[in-house]
Amino acid sequence: MNKRFYITTAIDYVNGQPHLGHAYEKIIADVIARSRRSLGEEVFFLTGLDEHGQKVQQVALAQGKSPQAYCDELAVDWQAFAKKLELTNDDFVRTTQPRHKEFVQAGLSRVMAAGKVYKKTYSGYYSAREETFLTEKDRRPDGTFDPSWGEVTELQEENYFFKLGEQQAWLIEYIEQNPSFIQPDYRRNEVLGFLKNNTLEDLCISRPVARLNWGIPLPFDPAYVTYVWFDALVNYASTAFAHQELELWPADIHVIGKDIVKFHAVYWPIMLKAMDLPLPKQILVHGWWQKDGARISKSTGNVVDPIAVINEWGLDAFRFYVLRELDIGPDGNWTDAGFKARYQAELANGLGNLVNRSLSMLKRYRNGVVPVKSTELAADATKAADETRALLQQSQLQAALQSIWGLVNRANKYVDETAPFKLAKDPAQAQRLDGVLYNLVETCRVLAVLLNPFLPGTTAKIYTQLGLSGAPDKLADAAWGGLAAGHTIGEPAALFPRKDEPKK
Ligand code: MSP
Repeated sequence: MNKRFYITTAIDYVNGQPHLGHAYEKIIADVIARSRRSLGEEVFFLTGLDEHGQKVQQVALAQGKSPQAYCDELAVDWQAFAKKLELTNDDFVRTTQPRHKEFVQAGLSRVMAAGKVYKKTYSGYYSAREETFLTEKDRRPDGTFDPSWGEVTELQEENYFFKLGEQQAWLIEYIEQNPSFIQPDYRRNEVLGFLKNNTLEDLCISRPVARLNWGIPLPFDPAYVTYVWFDALVNYASTAFAHQELELWPADIHVIGKDIVKFHAVYWPIMLKAMDLPLPKQILVHGWWQKDGARISKSTGNVVDPIAVINEWGLDAFRFYVLRELDIGPDGNWTDAGFKARYQAELANGLGNLVNRSLSMLKRYRNGVVPVKSTELAADATKAADETRALLQQSQLQAALQSIWGLVNRANKYVDETAPFKLAKDPAQAQRLDGVLYNLVETCRVLAVLLNPFLPGTTAKIYTQLGLSGAPDKLADAAWGGLAAGHTIGEPAALFPRKDEPKK
């Protein structure tokens, strides 16, 4: 059995509707998954929902529903959202699934048996909103707690604790010896700085049923449910081991946002070690989107509705913008003007125009029949293909798009330089025109192969318009010369319709 390339996303809280941030992360993971498949690897891509915890319980009760019924309803919307984004996920985990709950309980029994869990009385300040105990360090200079914690109450209760304290040294060493474990580098340095300058306190992993019952019961004490993070993180492994027919674990990449690095880069490795499981190979941390320079927030109405954007502009335009605009790491800023500018310049006038005029000219001047092979743009195409392959292996999605657009721009310039419409008027230039047309349509084909992980709908259209059967889903097919002389292409049609502003 071959180990598959296993990639996951954070599992979203089931409260509320999906927004730009959720969509962005899932698209990153989908493009990496599709890229790996295109590189010839076997892939397993997992996304899903985080359904337990106090917030879900509260919202469900407020709506007069059982938490399970509430989750079941919202899960339909979230799964429809994954379809809308055309995610190629191989499974969709919900933390309320029996297979997940059983695995969490088995894991808890294991860490208990290994002596990593103990019970003690704890008193402290508790934020129900964030489902976490606060410490003196969380107080502001004036002694109060930040309003973002919501209501903070003093609580004294017995709970189970997971030993994190003794685990710092090996984790620091592990991160230092495995530079690609946390990426980008500055996130890795932040985690190292945190681990070196703080003492890890043991983690409270239980909640008394009297206070919260929407969770997975502790297998060794039914008076408690499992703390949501100890439940949620385990989804990556519970799903992997649910597919006994496949070899998935350890994960190759966990794609997550910058706010949940500590859980993934500190707690999760320590939990895995306690369960005797190998650590994931990489935690890939993306930044956060703002809109118009301000935090995305439903309460202020500062939101981007991915579904509305997709319905108006098409899925591929949305996928393109988020990955071209923002590298994986820094924070980004969505502006509608920026979105339209990229649509117009790079998609409509760049890629769309190149494909449309190349295919239209082949139709007009050669009746759609591919001329004999020519290699004038072969070096440019090969360079873009080699760069793209190397960059996709490194999950450098923005840089790959930049490289691919180098080829788009080169080919558009080639049309201007060679002026095929002039060549067509001069019978003595027939051979030259053959050569130019071959270079253009073959470049379009190569572009379809390179862009397929990013813009699967568009690249399928390019293949159809080229009269090719099958999908452009193998990077090896980017090799120059794939179009055979004598092949007849299909019908050209605009890939990115112009969206001119209404006239005033
Ligand atoms: N349920 C936890 C994750 C558990 S993983 C074992 C959670 N859920 S979340 O719904 O709040 O966030 C899901 C993902 O979306 C996180 O990786 C988070 O960083 C990401 N984003 C949420 N808002 C975002 C932006 N505004 N921009 C980019 N990503 C954002 O945390």
